[in-house]
Amino acid sequence: MQVVDQVISERLTSDVPLVKEVSQYIISAGGKRLRPALLLLVSGALESLHPHRHTLAAVVEFIHTATLLHDDVVDESTLRRGRATANERFGNAPSVLVGDFLYSRAFQMMVDVNNMRVMQVLSDATNVIAEGEVQQLVNMHDPSLDEAAYLRVIRSKTAKLFEASARLAPILCGAPTDVEQTCATYGQALGTAFQVIDDVLDYEGSANVLGKNLGDDLREGKVTLPIICALKKASASQQALLRDAIVDGDLEHMDDILQVIRETGALEAARASAYGEAQRAMKAAERLPANHYSSALLQLAADLLERRS
Ligand code: IPE
Ligand code: IPE
Ligand code: MG
Ligand code: MG
Ligand code: MG
Repeated sequence: MQVVDQVISERLTSDVPLVKEVSQYIISAGGKRLRPALLLLVSGALESLHPHRHTLAAVVEFIHTATLLHDDVVDESTLRRGRATANERFGNAPSVLVGDFLYSRAFQMMVDVNNMRVMQVLSDATNVIAEGEVQQLVNMHDPSLDEAAYLRVIRSKTAKLFEASARLAPILCGAPTDVEQTCATYGQALGTAFQVIDDVLDYEGSANVLGKNLGDDLREGKVTLPIICALKKASASQQALLRDAIVDGDLEHMDDILQVIRETGALEAARASAYGEAQRAMKAAERLPANHYSSALLQLAADLLERRS
């Protein structure tokens, strides 16, 4: 991971000072670096230490960072990684444009790797992420959104990059298709569980630990799994309260809404769904060669359910 950080800092070059200022602002704030870690862990599990793995790990982190810069503009968020978001600090235009810079820098780097399958996986993932974000935009303020529609969005906007990160390691080492599929399944299931937990933490987390503000999702009328689970169990009057909040996207009755979420056991229900996905990830990890990297992949799926940040 130290080598990955080195690649990241070497490739953040630009003659335009604002590019460096904005990109370093968000990248130096840290972040878990989960997607590059996933790529390196899967490489280790496959006992393949391909020299390009650090470049590709930096590529997926650049793509992730670009999506965050854009996401915080779209979500009008003000806190990220415990700091003011780039849009709050520099404005929307620099955030969008430096996000574009990071996307295109990632594409320059992946072209250097000179492997057509790698380019195919990463260009598909980037396209699907964008599609998922647009679908989510269309789904805003719709109280009738069901779990299947929610899952389709999160598999695209979040799980797809986890899936790509996990898939790149077997592609680099020329592993057979069934091994690549196992890695992809692991990444997809892990990424899905990850986003469900993120959506739970938006209701019950701690902004200090999470480094993001709570309540952002409901404020924009975004229907996530906790709300979908609450609607299923709520009384008629509780349902009306939730529906109004989704349609209006206001946090005026947040205390009452949190009460409904608690009473209906919605967060537990959402966590159970994340648990199911984590189990699916573990089953896939068990099919990889047994070594300390695949053990770490198993542990990662379990730990993710307990995450607070
Ligand atoms: C945030 O991802 C965006 C989601 C998919 C929920 P992370 O929680 O991995 O963000 P950092 O990189 O650790 O800040
Ligand atoms: C994940 O969704 C965003 C991306 C995949 C870019 P969120 O909008 O919930 O992410 P956070 O909570 O702002 O990190
Ligand atoms: Mg957001
Ligand atoms: Mg978002
Ligand atoms: Mg979120």
